[in-house]
Amino acid sequence: MAKEKILVTGGAGYIGSHTVVALVEAGYAPVIVDNFSNSEESVLDGIASILGQSAPCHRIDCNDAAALRDVFAQEQDIAGVIHFAAYKAVGESVEQPLKYYQNNVGSLVTLLQVMEEYKVYNLVFSSSCTVYGIPEQLPVTEQTPVQKANSPYGNTKKICEEILEDLSKTDSSIKSIALRYFNPIGAHPSAKIGELPLGVPSNLVPFITQTAAGIRQQLTIFGDDYDTADGTNVRDYVHVVDLAKAHVTAVARMLQGKVADIEFFNVGTGRGNTVLEAVQAFEKATGVKLNYKIGPRRAGDVPKIYADVTKATEVLGFETTSTLEEAMKSAWDWQLSLQKKAKQEA
Ligand code: UD1
Repeated sequence: MAKEKILVTGGAGYIGSHTVVALVEAGYAPVIVDNFSNSEESVLDGIASILGQSAPCHRIDCNDAAALRDVFAQEQDIAGVIHFAAYKAVGESVEQPLKYYQNNVGSLVTLLQVMEEYKVYNLVFSSSCTVYGIPEQLPVTEQTPVQKANSPYGNTKKICEEILEDLSKTDSSIKSIALRYFNPIGAHPSAKIGELPLGVPSNLVPFITQTAAGIRQQLTIFGDDYDTADGTNVRDYVHVVDLAKAHVTAVARMLQGKVADIEFFNVGTGRGNTVLEAVQAFEKATGVKLNYKIGPRRAGDVPKIYADVTKATEVLGFETTSTLEEAMKSAWDWQLSLQKKAKQEA
């Protein structure tokens, strides 16, 4: 039987690339769509080196309806789509909200229109725990009320969920699963793919690994006066390889026709860790001492959030397979492999 073809927008990105690998390993045929605005061609080499085969890739922008139509026409029998392609820098979204609304909301609408035209009815959407805003109760379940997001980026995720929800109430045949990610970290165990921020990282773990590698001078921890065990923010750090597998089981569930209209799942570990605990886990896992200082709070940060993952565990068979330290170690191995490559190329 021919392998089922899954279109992966943003497939050259951080979570996308790990999902492409997981899809192939599970017997699917992923097709990447990426405009490489926040990625590099070398990611495709990494994927090919892990799999021993390259994944087909269309270099187009998902906002370009004509180009997207060409991809659907060329590929034909696409069984489902995983839509990762989006901008994700919270701070930048505050500075340039229109860029975020146009790209993140616009690309989803364009994609849905093209999916309808080509009768492709299964969509897995990259959402975020940011839709819960500052939650009143922890851990958050899928029933926790969705609130106004703290940033335009967060709001694009909320709006995209609402678009999918509105669509599910019509006679459209499109079904969707929105995966609400907590904080994805770590890298593939081969250290051939991982997080590849262009420029100064805004996320914690790449900032930690770059500081440890001497690329950044010092990590600033954004505030230690929150109402948490040590005063720093609490997050739920989920290994990207575990997160990638959640996409594969979500796709399988959709293709089995088990999704009636739209479903939401939290994907985290169920563990909350402070920023200081994350730093300590890095130091313990790698033996590298990190140069850090405590700075002021970062605007828009949620003090404390972590997931209840009962639903994903029961329905998707989601599992957390690594500890925070193991995830940190994999992020460090990836950083070291980047350094090695840079040295060889110099
Ligand atoms: C945010 C979004 C999340 C989004 C992600 C994408 C919210 C609530 N969460 O995650 O939905 O998917 O960005 O980029 O909007 N930190 C430092 N120093 C640093 C960097 C980070 O102390 O240099 C701290 C932050 O204050 C935070 C934690 O580390 O407490 C994690 O930060 P980060 O990796 O940026 O992710 P979030 O802001 O949690």
